[in-house]
Amino acid sequence: MSAIQTFDNLDYAFPAKPKALTEEQKAEYRARIKSLLEKHNAVLVAHYYTDPEIQALAEETGGCVSDSLEMARFGRDHDAETLIVAGVRFMGETAKILTPHKTVLMPTLKAECSLDLGCPPQDFSDFCDQHPDRTVVVYANTSAAVKARADWVVTSSMALELVEHLDSQGEKILWAPDRHLGNYIQNQTGADMIMWQGACVVHDEFKVKALQDLKKVHPEAAILVHPESPQSIVAMADAVGSTSQLIKASQEMPNETFIVATDRGIFYKMQQLEPNKTFIEAPTAGEGATCRSCAHCPWMAMNGLEAIANALETGGEQHEIHVDPELAEQAMKPLDRMLAFSAQLKR
Ligand code: 13P
Ligand code: SF4
Repeated sequence: MSAIQTFDNLDYAFPAKPKALTEEQKAEYRARIKSLLEKHNAVLVAHYYTDPEIQALAEETGGCVSDSLEMARFGRDHDAETLIVAGVRFMGETAKILTPHKTVLMPTLKAECSLDLGCPPQDFSDFCDQHPDRTVVVYANTSAAVKARADWVVTSSMALELVEHLDSQGEKILWAPDRHLGNYIQNQTGADMIMWQGACVVHDEFKVKALQDLKKVHPEAAILVHPESPQSIVAMADAVGSTSQLIKASQEMPNETFIVATDRGIFYKMQQLEPNKTFIEAPTAGEGATCRSCAHCPWMAMNGLEAIANALETGGEQHEIHVDPELAEQAMKPLDRMLAFSAQLKR
């Protein structure tokens, strides 16, 4: 087996930012997308990390803005013939696996995820082969081929509960690919876990010293942290959770100000739900900073208005998601388990 890779070892370039549009161009694209959605009986399914104008358009057109779990459910249950998934590739693949009869389009098929890139299927399969006694639990942020090798798929909104459940059954776990989320779950549950060493380019950038300094400036602020962040950041959190759990925390906690350690795309929904509260980005700059992503996923940012219009207009190999049917059948099993488990949790 080749050495376990971390994203730091990977040789990939970040995508170029989509070109900026004038307000007039944006209005034209919005109008064009609305009529294309109707024409193709299509619905826009967007992640919380996409740009605010994409989330607003999904809401205006009866689509969905949510976390990756709800995106999967919404796409599966909606009666549109075409899903246009504004997110990253694994989200489009999940939609296709769950609804193979639907056309699944993405604004760009080049929207990657560092966790997916950092977990090549063959290396992962070799790793699993070395630990046949372990239950394989993979995060949704993986390719269809990695899911096909897993016993369970989870999203961050239910990973903790699932590992708790497996641990209570005496199962030992092989976890992939996010090492920080894995460590967080292991700390919380005490489960016997071995970890693939992947990381998210966005969350891995948050800096503890700069966060301590910011907290001194806003002592009244609550700190909200996504568990893909390093342990030192999680240790400072007043609430830790998936995107939807952090949004809920921002509504339920009494604080007026929040420092948020996740992708800044989430501020659109937080501010919409709590217009009188103040949301501040957790710092990615400071000592040791490289800030390649600066609290915004470079691949989520590829989901621009122009790309959505192109996908709906032309479809085809630039935009349509295909998953090998045999692989899809295999990947469907752990995905189905995930959906059934989350239904039990009422998430
Ligand atoms: P959610 O599962 O909370 O939507 O998060 C997905 C993701 O990519 C986090 O970085
Ligand atoms: Fe992947 Fe991180 Fe982007 Fe989420 S924010 S899609 S985990 S690279």
